[in-house]
Order: sequence, then structure tokens, then C-alpha cells
Amino acid sequence: MAQTIVIFGASGDLTSRKLIPALYELYRKGRLPEATRIVGFSRTPFSDDAWREQLRQSTVRFVGADFRPDVWDTFAPSIRYHPGDIGRREDFESLKSYLAAWEGEGGAARVYYLSTAPKFYEPAIAQLGAADMVVEKQHARRVVIEKPFGVDLETAGRLNAHVHTVFDESQVYRIDHYLGKETVQNVLVLRFANGIFEPIWNRNYVEHVQITAAEETVVGRRGAYYDDVGILRDMFQNHLLQLLTLTAMDPPARYEAEAIRDEKVKVLRAVRHMARGDVASHTIRGQYRKYRDEPGVPAESETATFGVVKLHVDNWRWQGVPFFLRSGKAMSCQTTQVVIQFRRAPHMLFDLGPDSGHEANRLVLQVQPAEGIQLHFHTKVPDEGMKLRLTDLSLRFKEKFRSTMPEAYQRLLLDVMQGDASLFSRADEVELAWGIIDPIQQAWQDGDGPPLSLYEAGGWGPPNATEWMERQNHNWFDVCPVLK
Ligand code: BG6
Repeated sequence: MAQTIVIFGASGDLTSRKLIPALYELYRKGRLPEATRIVGFSRTPFSDDAWREQLRQSTVRFVGADFRPDVWDTFAPSIRYHPGDIGRREDFESLKSYLAAWEGEGGAARVYYLSTAPKFYEPAIAQLGAADMVVEKQHARRVVIEKPFGVDLETAGRLNAHVHTVFDESQVYRIDHYLGKETVQNVLVLRFANGIFEPIWNRNYVEHVQITAAEETVVGRRGAYYDDVGILRDMFQNHLLQLLTLTAMDPPARYEAEAIRDEKVKVLRAVRHMARGDVASHTIRGQYRKYRDEPGVPAESETATFGVVKLHVDNWRWQGVPFFLRSGKAMSCQTTQVVIQFRRAPHMLFDLGPDSGHEANRLVLQVQPAEGIQLHFHTKVPDEGMKLRLTDLSLRFKEKFRSTMPEAYQRLLLDVMQGDASLFSRADEVELAWGIIDPIQQAWQDGDGPPLSLYEAGGWGPPNATEWMERQNHNWFDVCPVLK
């Protein structure tokens, strides 16, 4: 089926860093539908050739060893550029005729990819509607909306309402690129394709869950943007809550977009909203020491670059099991992981030694960069009496499958073209996620949250995050993955 992908905000970073490299990779692997056309739309004037040349260079950079000049040369003619301004009605009329002429009589399904600054989402959608470019006659018309989807519940609700004046929800694909990651999808496979985990995946066996997304990188050039956003909006409302829902959800009856999203939504509905009075004791906020020196960041900035949030899922499966969510910039290493910490054996026959008070079985789902799964359990150390040690069984995706992990956008772009919304956020899902984050964000902003703790780059965040966890008789699983 012929496909046209129109990228709005085409001259931006996302197009060159992620979208075009992903489309190129799909093409190289023979997965892009045969008649795929890619049209860039933004204000910067470019000829087709000039744009292609720029994209060629960035694709070489981001695809690395998989870049093949001969493959690029056959792929490149499917890319064109049509300059235009989202604010101008006539530019959409001209885009419409341009697309119709290129697609020819047979027409094509279309993906409108909004890769613009968020303030252009509403005008772009309105223009597409006004130019009569969204009605599905013979072919699908889909819209992809990048994050951030709103900055709080109110703005997300307004944006959803606006989107729905033009598009039906079935045409809308809200991106959370975490869902495009292989290891994130594998949470569902691990849980629901195997019989041994589900029986113990509940409050009877699980003591708590830790979800960490640590980044070694600092805010750097994104200072001006980041300072308005902060860690809760940047990482918690989307990526971390997605990991939480996949970890906590019940099995859907079918592997199908609505069934999966219904189950995720049920989890979000069950997450207890934090009372204002609990925010100071249930969250931690930190800022790395050099953050205020970053370009674009005000000298007095109180924006958090690190956060911990303790959530509860009030349902039969999870009652009483805390979910600790944590993320930070300028940490000791990059690692995104979900740790399922199981309860200790009910009666311990063996002396575990003085330091192992907290050690019990745990399952570590390594999302990135050392994609894998480790199961930790006690083992007898040979020839040392009854001395025990916590050891692990380890699966490494890259070793096991001898393949590199594809970039998330490959899967996501292909799914949009195929009309599969399983890995995209539904309107109610985004709003429910904001509903969980809003009270915390608000309390932090009003000075009702915990004090802002400064931390040195290169560690695991502010020291009080470690002490806070210890006071609850838990330990963070602070282990940098070994990258081979
Ligand atoms: C983005 C955030 O959504 O996710 C960034 O805006 C963050 O601040 C990034 O660095 C992390 O994504 P990944 O795929 O590198 O874990």
C-alpha cells in the first residue's frame, strides 16, 4: 500500500537524528512499503537536493556502520521537500496539491508527523482540518504527535479536545519513544508468554518495585527548554509511568491495541494520587551542582534534574507494594532498569552474613544500554562451608541474538504505517498520567515539596535519596551495567 509521510518541522533535530535514519534503516531491511514517499515541510527554504544532501550526512553520522551509500542512493529519491509555514493557510493548500500530484491517481495513505515545537501542534492540526486533508476516503490519514503532549492535565486535555475536533482518536498516534524499545516490549513477552512469572507477580511475592532511568549526560544545550520542564515532566509523566504500567498491568485478553491500552489505563486509574501533605516525604528532588552554569539556565533556577517518587497502585494485585520511580541527569552511568524485588524466604536456615540483611531474590529488567534480564538468587559458595552468595542468571540480548538493538523509531514508524496503535498513548492514558504527576509538580513548584538537594555529577543523585531508601528498609539497586 502506497504511503506518504509528511514531516512538519522537517528542519528540526528529530528529523535528522531519528526519523530519517529510522526510515533509511527500514528501507535497507526491506521493510518500508514499496511506494513510500517522504515529504519535509518547514519554513527554511531548501531544494530537494540540498535537503537530501543534508540528510545524507546526518544519516551517515547516526546510522554508523550500517550506512551503505548504494542503498542511500536508491532510497533518497523518495525524499522531497516542500517549504511552508504552519501559520499560512495557502501553504497547506499548496502542500495538498503537491501531495496529490506526487501520489498520482491511485493516492496513498498518509502519516502527518508533527515534529514541530509543541506550540505548533494545534495550528498544524487546525490547518490540516481546514484544508480537508484528514478525511479518510480511500486511504488512511494518520497523525503522529511527538512529546511533550501538554505540560499538565489541563493543557493535555485541551490539546486532546482540539485534536478530536479534526481527527478521530483512531487516527491519532501519540509518541512515547520508550514503547518502541525492544526491551520495553519484552516486558510484556516476559510476563505473558511465560507461565512461571505471573503466579508470583503480585503483593504476595513482590516486596517493592524500582524503576530507574539514570542518564550520565547533562542538560547541556537544552538548558532553556529543560529549565521550564524539569525531570517530572521530562521523564516521569511519560517514560517512567509507561514502564510502571507495563510492569503492573493485568494480562490483556488479546494482543491488540485497545485491549492492551485498556489494561494500562486500569493501572493508571489505580495509582493513588499523592496528597499534598505526603509530597515532602514521598518524593525527593535534586539538582546537579553545575546545572545553573548551563547555557540558558537562570542562576537561581530551582528546576529539578533528579527526582524520586514513591507511588502505590491500589488494586488487589499490588496493594501495599511501593513502586519507587527515579530518574536523573548527570548520574554515574546511563542505565534504565526495572527491578522486581521479591520478598525474603519466609524462614532462613542459613546465615547470610552481616551485610546481606536486604538481599532477597530480584529480577532485573535491563532496558538499556546493557539490554538483558538478570535473576538474582542465593547460591552456596563451593568449599566454604554453608557460605552463601547472591548470584545471577543473566540473559544479554546482544549476545543471545547476535544483533544490534534497532532504534525505537523504526518500530514506531512502521506501526503507524500499518495502523497499529498498541505502542502509542491513548488520549485517556496521557491525561491519567498527567493526573498522577500534576499534584507532585504543583507541590514542588509551590514550595510544599521536599527541599531541593544539590548533588555532584557522576554519582547516584543526592545522598539523601540513599538515606531515604534505607529508612524504609530498602536499598537502591545502584549497579552500572557492564557493557561488553
Ligand atoms: C527524552 C527526554 O524524552 O528522553 C530527554 O526529553 C531524555 O531528556 C531522553 O534524555 C531519554 O531517552 P533515551 O531513549 O535516551 O533513554
